[in-house]
Amino acid sequence: MVSKSPWIFGYGSLMWRPDFPFVQSRIGYIRGWRRVFWQGSTDHRGTPDAPGRVVTIIADERENCIGMAYHIAPERYGETIEILDYREKGGYRLEVLPVVFENNEQVFASVYIATPDNPEFLGQAEPEKIARQISTSRGPSGPNDEYVIKLARALRKIGANDPHVFEVERWVRSLKI
Ligand code: BEZ
Repeated sequence: MVSKSPWIFGYGSLMWRPDFPFVQSRIGYIRGWRRVFWQGSTDHRGTPDAPGRVVTIIADERENCIGMAYHIAPERYGETIEILDYREKGGYRLEVLPVVFENNEQVFASVYIATPDNPEFLGQAEPEKIARQISTSRGPSGPNDEYVIKLARALRKIGANDPHVFEVERWVRSLKI
């Protein structure tokens, strides 16, 4: 059964810093999507002169993207989306996708996605190149490498394996030394 109650699904910084009131959080995944460091960040983890890289998701039928789903009180849903729309502007738009929980229950959730048509989209690159760019970027929200390390930590905390994130993390850590 798919319920239509107000949920927000986070696969990036919303995993470790939701910063909005929610009544429940649950581990879940979106089927047929892959997390990639393909979105440029000029407002959070980089600057217009030296964009950082943050995650977005791309459709990939072989993959599932694990993250955290947050159940919002219906009366707070509108204001929560307003806050997030402001905080997460940088090329993302909101889509509604089905999220599957560990017990196979499903809900529809709002998900921020940066698609290739947004001006900050950087696209594919080798993990080492991605990590080198990340290692030298910082923005108003802090160093870009901290973003990678926090994302990897949040994924490990819920027992998730994301080879792309962990490979970029390994490169980033090696470049810190
Ligand atoms: C996320 O955690 O899902 C997210 C955070 C910021 C922008 C887009 C997505």
